[in-house]
Amino acid sequence: MCGIVGYCGNKPASGILLEGLRRLEYRGYDSAGICVGTDTGLKVIKKTGKIRDLKAIVPEESFGHNGIGHTRWATHGGVTDENAHPHTDCSGKISVVHNGIIENYNQLKDKLLAKGHVFKSETDTEVIAHLVEDIYTGNLTQAVRETVKHLKGTYGIVVMHYDNPNLLVGARNGSPLILGVSDNEMFVASDVNAMISYTKQVVYLEDGEIISITPDGFEISDFHEKNISRPINEVDWEFESFEKGNFEHFMLKEIFEQKESVMRGMAGRLNINLATGHLGGLNMTNSELLNIERVIIVAAGTSFHAGLVASYLLESLARIPASAELASELRYRNPIIQKNALYFVVSQSGETADTLFALRELKRKGAKVLGICNVVGSTIARETDGGVYIHSGPEIAVASTKAFTSQLVALYIFTLLMARMKDMSFEAGSEFAKQMFSLPDIMDKALSKADEIKKLAKKYNFARSFLFLGRGINYPVAMEGALKLKEISYIHAEGFSAAEIKHGPIALINEVTPSLFLVPDDRLREKVISNMKEVKARKGKVIAIAVEGDKEVAQIADDIITVPHVSEFIYPFVMIIPLQLFAYYMAIELGRDVDQPRNLAKSVTVE
Ligand code: G6P
Repeated sequence: MCGIVGYCGNKPASGILLEGLRRLEYRGYDSAGICVGTDTGLKVIKKTGKIRDLKAIVPEESFGHNGIGHTRWATHGGVTDENAHPHTDCSGKISVVHNGIIENYNQLKDKLLAKGHVFKSETDTEVIAHLVEDIYTGNLTQAVRETVKHLKGTYGIVVMHYDNPNLLVGARNGSPLILGVSDNEMFVASDVNAMISYTKQVVYLEDGEIISITPDGFEISDFHEKNISRPINEVDWEFESFEKGNFEHFMLKEIFEQKESVMRGMAGRLNINLATGHLGGLNMTNSELLNIERVIIVAAGTSFHAGLVASYLLESLARIPASAELASELRYRNPIIQKNALYFVVSQSGETADTLFALRELKRKGAKVLGICNVVGSTIARETDGGVYIHSGPEIAVASTKAFTSQLVALYIFTLLMARMKDMSFEAGSEFAKQMFSLPDIMDKALSKADEIKKLAKKYNFARSFLFLGRGINYPVAMEGALKLKEISYIHAEGFSAAEIKHGPIALINEVTPSLFLVPDDRLREKVISNMKEVKARKGKVIAIAVEGDKEVAQIADDIITVPHVSEFIYPFVMIIPLQLFAYYMAIELGRDVDQPRNLAKSVTVE
């Protein structure tokens, strides 16, 4: 979703801002712009389309001493050059970039119009520029502090003023802002990706805080002028992780990276001697863990699917009632917080508004909430009572792949920990840990089918609708496979329990609506095979993801992709890979923008 980058320092600003925006592209956006301070005034350049379209109209030689940049994902007002950020006041001396939504912008706009302010866009953001103009009497920090008192809604904003050439002022309420610290230069951005090539020293801003940034330093204060001191943190992600390397797309790179990312998520967390899991960040004693009577996993999108998979595992192995809930729904359902329930909020970005607001609602009601996040220092990671970082490394492609399997790793280790405290024997625990350690090998085998899946995508590129069908723990995997296909190829796809098709979806079956079945050799195999036959009997095409050597399935299916045989609960790790690859190659077949699919955003920071 929208991205912010700001720079003040001793280098020409425009090039740095454009590079920062390029690194925010992955979030999803429809227009972009920069505002650069020059000796003769603020220069605003903005454009709908991609960063390359913006670059084409920015002077090639980098210029300006400070500046702000933005990638916009339209909420208020259409996708036009005028509505792109930055937005300026009437004098053209004040410029603002904003992530989030100003809910009372209409009332504010009416008041400002009555005072004679002239608006150039349809956005909620522009009111901020005019409000600052109205209030400013020479101190920009003070003017921003007064301005935010009028704003209702969520925002991360950065403001600059021509009269203060070495100053940027940011404010945060609900949308992240991070400061990047370097020698004689400072960065501010909505995520670290924008500045990782310049600095790894970062300071996280909290809600209700204002930051004044000059090339030599920064000052944080709250909305009531109280000064705040905050340590500088080091980001441990490597710059190379933000590059595609030899891969054509970030998504393909991230799919193939899974054999390493799952390992990173396990490192130091599986105790072979005790045949159990160890998760240091839970901040819970063993007796507190033992008191847990229910686990509820709250998330959105792909993270929700990881939660669903884990709910099967927790119930089966740890014998704890478990469920997964959509964060967006839970929040407004006035949830009942059971005594001794443990909530996990799962979020790759750690910034998803639906998940964050559900977390706050749960905490307000007194629930114990732990986080499972990828982005270190993200809002959800900081607001939870404890939790686990999945360490999958930066995920750049909008469609989540490696974060999914790494979220599973964290939840599987938690399950092992709980199961071993309950009924699971040492031998069963050892076996489970051994299987977890074998994940890189078995995932590698699944990845080796990439060329076959590419051919499959060529064969099925005619289809405009797919059913993804699985049972048990692989049912949510089918849902995730359908989500991947929708997201990046724009082909309609739905994930169902294979058992459910007879209750409705089977009406959709015809020659041009293929069904993709997940057929592990588990206790539900026979039932899934019967469902495959039902589809075949109605002239439906069947693609099966089945186990190596399964001749029966090979005979029924029109096409088969095999995965290695693994134990029942490990199948989600191998079943998801062909589905991720299938979505990828279908998108390539159809000429889609794989890493930045239309209308989607990597981190959805609005409701
Ligand atoms: C967006 C992304 C999805 C992602 C979901 C949850 O919709 O496009 O890929 O699964 O948000 O994101 P999170 O960062 O909370 O895991």
